[in-house]
Amino acid sequence: MTRIFSIANQKGGVGKTTTTLNLGFVLAQKHRVLLIDLDAQGGLTNFLGMDPYRMTRSVYSLLMYEDISITRTIKTIIPRLSLIPGSIDLASGAVRIVHEERPLTKLKDVLRDSKLQFDYVLIDTPPTLDVMTAISLMAADEVIIPAQCHYLAMLGIRAMKESIERLKTNMTGSNLKLRGVLPTMYDASAVQSKKALEELRNLLTKEVFQTVIPYDTHILDAPYHGKPVVNYAPDSPAAQAYHSLAEELLAGDVG
Ligand SMILES: Nc1ncnc2c1ncn2[C@@H]1O[C@H](COP(=O)(O)OP(=O)(O)OP(=O)(O)O)[C@@H](O)[C@H]1O
Ligand SMILES: [Mg+2]
Repeated sequence: MTRIFSIANQKGGVGKTTTTLNLGFVLAQKHRVLLIDLDAQGGLTNFLGMDPYRMTRSVYSLLMYEDISITRTIKTIIPRLSLIPGSIDLASGAVRIVHEERPLTKLKDVLRDSKLQFDYVLIDTPPTLDVMTAISLMAADEVIIPAQCHYLAMLGIRAMKESIERLKTNMTGSNLKLRGVLPTMYDASAVQSKKALEELRNLLTKEVFQTVIPYDTHILDAPYHGKPVVNYAPDSPAAQAYHSLAEELLAGDVG
């Protein structure tokens, strides 16, 4: 069975794209993985060598046109890892979807109906709680909320949790679960970082992953080498942490 994850937090710059990318590469070592870029900024698409300003077949086409098959939008990145690219059109797409009152379930329906052979689908989302994030939450079984270990991180998480609850109330058939809050950019030498992590664990207890992604400059260097950190510096603390995250997620797999 395919497990579909949305990587979401309406707060910007918390590590959503970095998590989607690195978790994707780790999972693809043994499993078939599909990444979807629902962010009009197209950071994930760009990182994987495509230009979000020039995409003709993207997740936008999939959401807006009736006659396009999902297989025509999927690009193979490496064996077992594929991407449905994002495009800057997603920004106008969000407006059109609302204006034309299109259902927010298109991605969910396409993913469920197609006979795609993926074990995991990871959806990267924009730093908003609007249409594209809603589309992603509708399509997903589980949501991962990356949260920077900073003061006020809880505010964003609370808003995300409320959206998940609202969506479950309004959407019959949605069995979306909060899979976990993922502490990111943790700096063990900073008192504030420790306090923020402590607060997350106290308030959310089991909803926080055991894995913590440390602040690690290898993550910042990796794009200059055209690689995700798990390939660029496999022994780095951040790369190791993304491996632990994958293990933690897989431990929850039944069968
Ligand atoms: N653990 C980390 N240590 C150091 N830098 C990090 C870490 N995780 C992410 N970064 C850097 O922080 C910035 C923001 O990360 P990222 O783009 O993954 O966040 P995002 O939540 O997707 O942002 P947006 O909301 O804009 O889409 C990037 O420059 C990234 O390289
Ligand atoms: Mg991003």
